[in-house]
Amino acid sequence: MSVLVTGGAGYIGSHVVRLLQEANEDVVVVDDLSSGDPDRIGEASLVELDVSSDGAQGTLEMVMEERNVETVIHLSAQKQVGISMERPMFYYRQNVAGMVNLLSAMETSGVQRLVFSSSAAVYGMPDVDMVTENTRCAPINPYGETKLIGEWMVSRASAAWGLRASSLRYFNVAGAGWDDLGDPTAFNLVPIVFNALAEGRAPQVFGDDYPTPDGTCIRDYVHVLDLAEAHLSALEFTADESATHGVFNIGTGKGSSVLEVINAVGAAAGQDIEPEITGRRGGDPAQLVADVAKAKDVLGWTARHGLDDMVDSAWKAFSARH
Ligand code: WQD
Repeated sequence: MSVLVTGGAGYIGSHVVRLLQEANEDVVVVDDLSSGDPDRIGEASLVELDVSSDGAQGTLEMVMEERNVETVIHLSAQKQVGISMERPMFYYRQNVAGMVNLLSAMETSGVQRLVFSSSAAVYGMPDVDMVTENTRCAPINPYGETKLIGEWMVSRASAAWGLRASSLRYFNVAGAGWDDLGDPTAFNLVPIVFNALAEGRAPQVFGDDYPTPDGTCIRDYVHVLDLAEAHLSALEFTADESATHGVFNIGTGKGSSVLEVINAVGAAAGQDIEPEITGRRGGDPAQLVADVAKAKDVLGWTARHGLDDMVDSAWKAFSARH
């Protein structure tokens, strides 16, 4: 029996893979290596494949049958909001067609258990202090739309042929569980601030006139190791034969402002940081914080790390690479 992890060579996927390996699971990684790195998956076997490509369904079926796959954790996707606005069809093809291929292969091969990597981007610009899984989904960019469509497909597959699944709505992921698994990209606030420091630039704060205590946007930052652990709990949820499709917010339930994050980076790096306040970035909700009661009640999962741990671990991993 093995666990198939799509996107397993990526930043989040490689943390999931390592935890599965520590739990002695047999892991098969499917990754197109467009942003993943084979050095991150240790002894796991790697199938180099873009799950959205023509013919990917057949290859996935072969892998599922040959490797006796019992469960799938599907993380492979494009995840940059800005690019999704510029190239929406590329995002639909990668994320939605990839999901069609994967679910079709699972149906044909009789693989019935899935953990799907969804996103808080499905909520769009909610006007509540904390979002629950029942808050209305109204994504405001193609990236968030592809994740919501993914969840719909999972629900339909569950009703039609008995797929048992958890969709995890990730909030803002940061940190490193191991020094060699830090986020190698600079798409999100924490690594963006690291890069600014490394290059001697002032980090930018996109607006300080929001209706929040210090005027900067509030997000729910979750440690990637906690997030990875949530996948193992979510996989367990699908072991119950009466399970259908559970949707879970994966955050800490606690918000941090942009300035608080920048201060935490300053403390981790031992530097006084003077950020530059710029104008607002389009499409940013003032506050996006998870209500995490459902993940706790149903999955028995809660985040163990706070912002300082997260930023310290990310800084350690960043310093190891630079
Ligand atoms: C965080 C905060 C910025 C950079 C995005 C996706 C979301 C997602 C996680 C994936 C915001 C501010 C940022 C900078 C800044 N997930 N900021 N200066 O936009 O909350 O979420 O990544 O599934 O779908 O939308 O994350 O890291 O870009 O920004 O002030 O140089 O930091 O305005 O308030 P975001 P982010």
